[in-house]
Amino acid sequence: MKIIQTKNLKKSFGNKPVLRGVDIDVNQGEKLVIIGRSGCGKSVLLKHLVKLLLPDEGSVTVYGNDLATISKQDLFETRRRFGYLFQGAALFDSMSVGENVGLPLVENFDYSPAEVSRLVSEKLEMVGLPGIENLRPSELSGGMKKRVGLARAIVTNPDVILYDEPTTGLDPVMSDAIDSLINDLASRLKVTSVVITHDMASVQKVADRVIMLHEGHVHYEGTPAGLFESADVVVQHFVSRISADDEEILHEMADLTEKGKHGNAAEVLTSVKRK
Ligand SMILES: Nc1ncnc2c1ncn2[C@@H]1O[C@H](COP(=O)(O)OP(=O)(O)OP(=O)(O)O)[C@@H](O)[C@H]1O
Ligand SMILES: [Mg+2]
Repeated sequence: MKIIQTKNLKKSFGNKPVLRGVDIDVNQGEKLVIIGRSGCGKSVLLKHLVKLLLPDEGSVTVYGNDLATISKQDLFETRRRFGYLFQGAALFDSMSVGENVGLPLVENFDYSPAEVSRLVSEKLEMVGLPGIENLRPSELSGGMKKRVGLARAIVTNPDVILYDEPTTGLDPVMSDAIDSLINDLASRLKVTSVVITHDMASVQKVADRVIMLHEGHVHYEGTPAGLFESADVVVQHFVSRISADDEEILHEMADLTEKGKHGNAAEVLTSVKRK
């Protein structure tokens, strides 16, 4: 069953076209990995899936609802089924780690404080950071922030998790542990996963299916094996590049520490209230 579908999705910023007609489907229970060069529109695409951005043209359908016309209540119900790991984590500096992780539970569900605290510590443990509830985001390294953002994305036990660069900025051991966690959530809890990554090890370990965006279109769609065997020059270049020399990676690292990206996170986590 298709749970997300974009059709002819187009999005420009100013006079700069970013998405020029993107058609993707996300099937229930699959792990879809999205790759593509820095700035090609991966994060922009992901934001459309929860209506943080609206298309200029084309449509996004989620659980049968066209997001252009969905009611506020249905949007709220739909977003409750999603977890979102933002690129750069988007933690709120004024709150403790525990409050950050528990925020979607407090805002969108009716759990008691004791249940919130239990779920928060369970999720922090799952991302390898047990017992850090009382720290502030400013006390964390970039990689720790990323993992706290991941704990927040999974705290509600969502049906669908959107991961924007879950392993960027983490060392290989931690990256592998996060990839295992993504696989585990998918296989044990039947979570549907959309994972943006630059990390070819993650593509190999996680992907059931891969989509490569290039120049505003889906340039490749298929299995990870097919990606690595592709005769297409654009695909080959992307897959075989040496990441240590890659300016994209530097760009991402800068992004990890970037401030002021909280507007989007705040909207998805808190703005659509049930009552
Ligand atoms: N809110 C916005 N306003 C204006 N331009 C934007 C906005 N969001 C994204 N862009 C532009 O759209 C393009 C695609 O951005 P996006 O963040 O989706 O890239 P990306 O593929 O995720 O890159 P990276 O791998 O570096 O994260 C970029 O040129 C970016 O500057
Ligand atoms: Mg991005």
